[in-house]
Amino acid sequence: MAYAFSKSHFFTFLVILTFLSFSLIKESEAQAKPPPIVKGLSWNFYDSSCPKLESIIRNELKKIFDDDIGQAAGLLRLHFHDCFVQGCDGSVLLDGSASGPSEKDAPPNLSLRASAFKIIEKLRGRVQKQCGRIVSCADITAIAARDAVFLSGGADYKVPLGRRDGLTFATRNVTLDNLPSPSSNTTTILNSLATKNLNPTDVVALSGGHTIGISHCSSFTNRLYPKQDPVMDKTYGNNLKLTCPTNNTDNTTVLDIRSPNKFDNKYYVDLMNRQGLFTSDQDLYTDKRTKDIVTNFAVNQSLFFEKFVAAMIKMGQLNVLTGTQGEIRANCSARNKATKSFLGSVVEDVVEGFLEI
Ligand code: HEM
Ligand SMILES: *[C@@H]1O[C@H](CO)[C@@H](O)[C@H](O)[C@H]1NC(C)=O
Ligand SMILES: *[C@@H]1O[C@H](CO)[C@@H](O)[C@H](O)[C@H]1NC(C)=O
Ligand SMILES: *[C@@H]1O[C@H](CO)[C@@H](O)[C@H](O)[C@H]1NC(C)=O
Ligand SMILES: *[C@@H]1O[C@H](CO)[C@@H](O)[C@H](O)[C@H]1NC(C)=O
Ligand SMILES: *[C@@H]1O[C@H](CO)[C@@H](O)[C@H](O)[C@H]1NC(C)=O
Ligand SMILES: *[C@@H]1O[C@H](CO)[C@@H](O)[C@H](O)[C@H]1NC(C)=O
Ligand SMILES: *[C@@H]1O[C@H](CO)[C@@H](O)[C@H](O)[C@H]1NC(C)=O
Repeated sequence: MAYAFSKSHFFTFLVILTFLSFSLIKESEAQAKPPPIVKGLSWNFYDSSCPKLESIIRNELKKIFDDDIGQAAGLLRLHFHDCFVQGCDGSVLLDGSASGPSEKDAPPNLSLRASAFKIIEKLRGRVQKQCGRIVSCADITAIAARDAVFLSGGADYKVPLGRRDGLTFATRNVTLDNLPSPSSNTTTILNSLATKNLNPTDVVALSGGHTIGISHCSSFTNRLYPKQDPVMDKTYGNNLKLTCPTNNTDNTTVLDIRSPNKFDNKYYVDLMNRQGLFTSDQDLYTDKRTKDIVTNFAVNQSLFFEKFVAAMIKMGQLNVLTGTQGEIRANCSARNKATKSFLGSVVEDVVEGFLEI
């Protein structure tokens, strides 16, 4: 039989081609598609009720970071603590919260920068003046964390919105139970974050938040005294000892020695050079389950940014309140007075919402 391309063969060929190109298009569309969002949140929640929301926050933060880029780190960590303890419901902002500035005996590894709370309250004032009491403190915190990443050199991304503010703050015990310690190994970190539906790639990506910001000595002197952690680079350790001559020196150092104020992938390069600050950081490059992820992020910043954004969107939706749950606070550090039976201080419920600060 002659080797001929019959009409019917040609037709089959066309069908296969068409099918192939369709599935290719489908795949690239799927990759460009944003990650799933929980019921009650949406990408355009305030588009009609507060169209200037995101520009108000970004413009204000630009000014603040121009003065002190360190504030970006404080805002990023604030959102992380909010989400991990009791869900992203702004509970971390309430006076009396175990991570809050008013908790006098919070260990330094837990206490957040007092300035971060002030910035959120300032943003709330600006937003409320423009739009009324429409936007939750939890959403403002999530947007501020995103802007902290972007304005420090990281990726820009859309944040699903519509969170409501919680009515109770978390006690110290609940807070400690939900925030892993920096002296944890990878097994502990993976287990702890798995309870929040975060997989190893999410864990390594989120730990990359340590590409900006600072730490107190007490969070890492377990690796210096009584003897230096053998995994730690010798010179790096000796320099840390100069900053923290004893295990209770009240001093701070940067988390990412290569580019402490820039949101980039250098944190992973630090880990590959055994210059990660916490056990929980450095062990990601020792543990077989996470080592390759660290390497992949260290050599490909776009990959890190992509996975970081996906993990942030996941983290940003942990146990959120939506719809008619919770409330929209008139003051991020206190419950609205009208809401009954609560744990936390209260503020007059200003419905028109023109509290100036
Ligand atoms: C995986 C478990 C994590 C542990 C054990 C951990 C632990 C810590 C500790 C101990 C500090 C220093 C606190 C101090 O001594 O002042 C810190 C700082 C920081 N963390 Fe984490 N963290 C974790 C995850 C995250 C995540 C998911 C993010 C955000 C995506 C993040 C962002 C930050 C930032 C930006 C700072 C610097 C804060 C500042 O400069 O004010 N961390 N972290
Ligand atoms: C908090 O934890 C401590 C130590 O584990 C325990 O003694 C205390 O009873 C706990 N407090 C509450 C309110 O659960
Ligand atoms: C903070 O330090 C305390 C001891 O002061 C420790 O029990 C706790 O696990 C640490 N937690 C975090 C999140 O660093
Ligand atoms: C990780 O830490 C836990 C709790 O301290 C410990 O039980 C476990 O043996 C450690 N795992 C490794 C691989 O070091
Ligand atoms: C704090 O760290 C700085 C810089 O690393 C160092 O020069 C200083 O001596 C440290 N302060 C104390 C009290 O150890
Ligand atoms: C600090 O170091 C001293 C002396 O090495 C030791 O006795 C003490 O237990 C350490 N404290 C902490 C919290 O590690
Ligand atoms: C880096 O990661 C991006 C995003 O996933 C990917 O498109 C690109 O191909 C990767 N680059 C290299 C050199 O592997
Ligand atoms: C918010 O409430 C706190 C009390 O929890 C109060 O100190 C502060 O002045 C209030 N801020 C505004 C802008 O009303």
